[in-house]
Amino acid sequence: LMQGAMEKLVPLAPDSWIPGGVPDPLIARKHGLIGTPVSRLDGPLKVKGGARFAAEYRFDDMVYAALVYATIPRGRIVAIDQAAAEAATGVVLVMTHRNAPRMNTPAVFGSSPTAVGPADLPILQDDRIHWNGQPIACVLAETQEQADHAASLIAVTYDEEPSTTSLAGAKANGMEQGLFMGQPLLNEIGDAEAALASAPHRIDHVYRTPRHNHNPIEPHAATLAWVDGGLVIHDASQMVTQQAQTIGEVFDLTPDQVRLTSPYVGGGFGSKGLWDHQVIGAAAAQLAGRPVRITLSREGVYRVVGGRTLTEQRVGIGATADGRFQALIHSGLSVMTPHNSMPEPFILGTRAAYAAPNIALKVEIARMNMLANTFMRAPGEAVGTFALECAVDELAVQIGIDPVDLRILNEPDKDPTSGLPFSSRHIVEAWRRGAERFGWSDRPATPASRRDGEWLVGMGCATGTYPYYRMPGAEARITLTRDGDAVRATVEVAAAEMGMGTSTTTAIVAAERLGLPLDRVEVAYGDSAIPGAIMAGGSQQTAAIGAAVIAAHNALVAELLKLAGNDSGLAGLSPDDVGSVDGGLSKRDDPVRRESYASILSRARRDSVTVTAAGSPPLELMHWSMHSHSALFCEVRVNAVTGETRVTRMLGSFDCGRILNPRTATSQFRGGIIMGLGMALMEETQFDERSGRIMNPSLAEYHLPVHMDVPEIDVIWTDIADPHTPMGAHGIGEIGITGVAAAVANAIYNATGKRVRNLPITLDRLL
Ligand code: MOS
Repeated sequence: LMQGAMEKLVPLAPDSWIPGGVPDPLIARKHGLIGTPVSRLDGPLKVKGGARFAAEYRFDDMVYAALVYATIPRGRIVAIDQAAAEAATGVVLVMTHRNAPRMNTPAVFGSSPTAVGPADLPILQDDRIHWNGQPIACVLAETQEQADHAASLIAVTYDEEPSTTSLAGAKANGMEQGLFMGQPLLNEIGDAEAALASAPHRIDHVYRTPRHNHNPIEPHAATLAWVDGGLVIHDASQMVTQQAQTIGEVFDLTPDQVRLTSPYVGGGFGSKGLWDHQVIGAAAAQLAGRPVRITLSREGVYRVVGGRTLTEQRVGIGATADGRFQALIHSGLSVMTPHNSMPEPFILGTRAAYAAPNIALKVEIARMNMLANTFMRAPGEAVGTFALECAVDELAVQIGIDPVDLRILNEPDKDPTSGLPFSSRHIVEAWRRGAERFGWSDRPATPASRRDGEWLVGMGCATGTYPYYRMPGAEARITLTRDGDAVRATVEVAAAEMGMGTSTTTAIVAAERLGLPLDRVEVAYGDSAIPGAIMAGGSQQTAAIGAAVIAAHNALVAELLKLAGNDSGLAGLSPDDVGSVDGGLSKRDDPVRRESYASILSRARRDSVTVTAAGSPPLELMHWSMHSHSALFCEVRVNAVTGETRVTRMLGSFDCGRILNPRTATSQFRGGIIMGLGMALMEETQFDERSGRIMNPSLAEYHLPVHMDVPEIDVIWTDIADPHTPMGAHGIGEIGITGVAAAVANAIYNATGKRVRNLPITLDRLL
């Protein structure tokens, strides 16, 4: 999506562009609001139960949906016995491929800038089965319990066809070059194999990461109705506009015939997009002529919503006697269904990680009959850094050098694969500050040398990187309304809030620019009726929103100057001379020349003024290598008798440009680290290689960290503004998880002397 969008950008003539546009003057100084910790503005509403989530909307005459899932990985439906279900109490409709309305196949993610379909498969349109768990029937009933019961009465006969559900089988079928957003996951600089073979120090190992499923606290749900031939959907979405567009195309609707809202989302992490259930819910509502609420059970999320696919990664590093990398190889495979476009692009973070004259990076794809996998927090980087950063640790052990020093020694001065300069990279500072604060110098130099009773104690570290993105298409609409002697501002952005604090940070950014107190700014978002398109994905939403708010504020200043006219103290000034301060406009270098917003509106006899503007195109991405960075430190205790690992301390030292809201940023970093602890020690989708069935679709059997598993997590950051981003900020949503599994694995090695190269590091692997 990014690549496609970038290709359409036309760079300005070389003498007229400033890479990334003119830096925002606001990033040059500290402010009252930006950098001040602000609690979520919607927090009280959520705590009091006043925030309405997708499955809490209600329509008159609404019915409830339950899905039936296929139990074979590939084949055809021969017969569906639905008589008992249709006769069950409360049942309104049983819908299968036989009676479902004819629908278009959703456009698969990445096939156009707005396409967010899960796979290139028709939904409930024919008798074909493509994965074990595919929805094949939908029951509507007067209550959820009646629908669930009736769904359990449906008996299906299949004609099973040969399928590929084992990794060995998928490999034997042949591999293909992996693509990410249409671009090959392939980099070759110099001759890495030869350089590795001749290096004085060599590490060359295979690391494996399993499938992971999405487990947001709010399972996926939609409440929807057909109104006047159009579709109204109350959904849980991190890509509101795009989802409305894609589902509209499925039903041949124009964009104005679909209204999708998603003001609150109980966690997304990449999973809250368009899946089969919204399409089936809308089709069933059409067929039954009644509004529908469709909520996936926790098992349903595992059957319908894709997760992170498995990887097998080779990392080879060759280094000189003193530890300078001569060769860096990161290659291997990821497994996908034939029907989607999202491999686990585990080399992305390696591209800009370390200086090396010879680099070979490659992701290959093996195909399996399975659910379409998808984005899961730091897709690529989260698992890629496990392999890369464990290998760096193994090299440090071999050379006998401190792993922090080894990383700093190999810090690149420009992007080693693209050749671009870094826009803002202060990872060495993050390492030094983190090591100091964590007490890294106290690390046991020899593995398995520190013991406290039954417990072996060790420390490990790792680096994380996550790219800075900013997708084009963001717009903001600002309305300034007179309210007595003051004004209120409403800022509308087509953004999504997954719970991470986007609406709060947007209010901070808008209030800062408008020169208004926070309680005078209201943010509207999460509604497909709002102009523009922004997505909570790729950790880029805040930058995209910021660019749009900056553009809209500039438009507002121009509009207000026109309204101010010749009688104002601002008369004759151009928008470039004017800034917003204390509820009005002032000349930048002469604050005496000012007029309040209320006064301008009042003299112009206006109650309000509204402007809309689009964010500048993200040209910065063409000129700089831009990333968020982390230096992670971990202390573990491993029980010498049981093999149990307890993480006792974690520190994340981040370099992510300017931190806009320290309160919500801290939560983002901590939450990412906690998700990384799950990845390191617990999370694993159990996939039956005989049947392609996920065997542990519940929180009882798919283990995630709970409070007792989570230690004190310390979080610090450099807070150095990047002069080439709209607000000096980089994304922070996905950097937190990145590198955590390696930091834990490296600490376990330091504690036990055991190197575990397969995730999760469960106790059986340490005995
Ligand atoms: Mo993220 S995996 O881009 O929600």
